[in-house]
Amino acid sequence: MSSFITFEGIEGCGKTTQIQRVAELLRSENHTVQLTREPGGCPIADQIRTILLDADNRAMVPETELLLYAAARAQHVAEIIRPALAANRIVLCDRFTDATYAYQGFARGLDKNMVSHLNSLATGGLIPDLTILVDCPVSIGLGRAKARIASSSGPREERFEQEALQFHDQVRAGYLQLAAKNPNRFRIIDGTAPIERVTAAIHQQITTYLTSHTG
Ligand code: TMP
Repeated sequence: MSSFITFEGIEGCGKTTQIQRVAELLRSENHTVQLTREPGGCPIADQIRTILLDADNRAMVPETELLLYAAARAQHVAEIIRPALAANRIVLCDRFTDATYAYQGFARGLDKNMVSHLNSLATGGLIPDLTILVDCPVSIGLGRAKARIASSSGPREERFEQEALQFHDQVRAGYLQLAAKNPNRFRIIDGTAPIERVTAAIHQQITTYLTSHTG
């Protein structure tokens, strides 16, 4: 049976490292895993990602940002996620609709009904089966994210890292509120623990979920 599992958290929480480690573990157990991410995951959405994360796009207004995330998601869901679920894969997705609630809704202050409406339009009502929230304090996450950017020679995907501390505090608070409201779907993992312990905790949560839902 297919499963749709999303990973969420603030900048530098470690979710991208963790999703790769967990994908490898699941594959070693003979699960068929599709690893993907937002914004992006397919060529059209990757082009939208470049616009969204370009540090030179300081003039972007929140409404443009919201619509571009929705546009990227619509393409990604149709082209990658739905076909992978139809093929009975375990889809692991680095960020999804909860990121739009946390960043555009809670932190940017856009109307949450509007966010919800656009999320529904983009996903056609697809909701993750399980969401792993890798939680860590903003001071730790931003420190890691800035160190990564300083040592990277890739594209300057740092528009969000340049936001004020208060913005990231709101993102974290938003995620924790979403988790509190959806306790059946969310699992909160301590992202400050050593890397191996975080992987083991996530793997255990996913295994428990898969065993109880797919037999
Ligand atoms: P990443 O750092 O996980 O690659 O995510 C890219 C950035 O996009 C990150 O700063 C969070 C932001 N984001 C939103 O603001 N809204 C969204 O809906 C998504 C998917 C990401």
